[in-house]
Amino acid sequence: MPAYRIYDAAAMRAVIDAVIALPRIDGSRAAWHQAPGSPDRGRDLYGRHCAGCHGDRGEGKTGTSLANSGFQKVASVGYVAAMVARGRTDTPMPAFRLDGVNHSALTADEILDLSAFVAAGLPGAARQTQ
Ligand code: HEC
Repeated sequence: MPAYRIYDAAAMRAVIDAVIALPRIDGSRAAWHQAPGSPDRGRDLYGRHCAGCHGDRGEGKTGTSLANSGFQKVASVGYVAAMVARGRTDTPMPAFRLDGVNHSALTADEILDLSAFVAAGLPGAARQTQ
């Protein structure tokens, strides 16, 4: 959600009035949730962007092991997504949402796919190395 500071107060009020004037939608939005990431797409992305440091099967190289049971017990999709998006300062772990210098910049959907794959225990990753 970007910040819309480029609009002055009058323009903001006009936008708010326009939104209020939209037709009401019946039904609750409680059932809405974000589409889950796809571990299958995540597997390809992992091979391209992560395996060089974390190993083809997540066994760890320059980067830590992501396949080990200790990490797998605590790794949620949200944790992995935050780590990939923000990186870890003062370590080689890049922030993939940032400028893409020395690494690719990933979209939010790509990060969700990757995180679904990693948090699910890197299913099928072993096949790539045989
Ligand atoms: C240039 C090497 C490099 C690349 C590329 C890289 N990582 Fe990392 N990653 C690291 C290092 C090193 C650490 C450990 C940082 C530390 O010392 O805390 C790390 C940490 C992590 C952690 C936290 C692990 C923990 O135990 O908390 C996750 C999750 C992670 N990386 C996922 C990924 C994913 C997914 C990708 C691909 C999008 C990726 N990394 C790409 C080097 C890399």
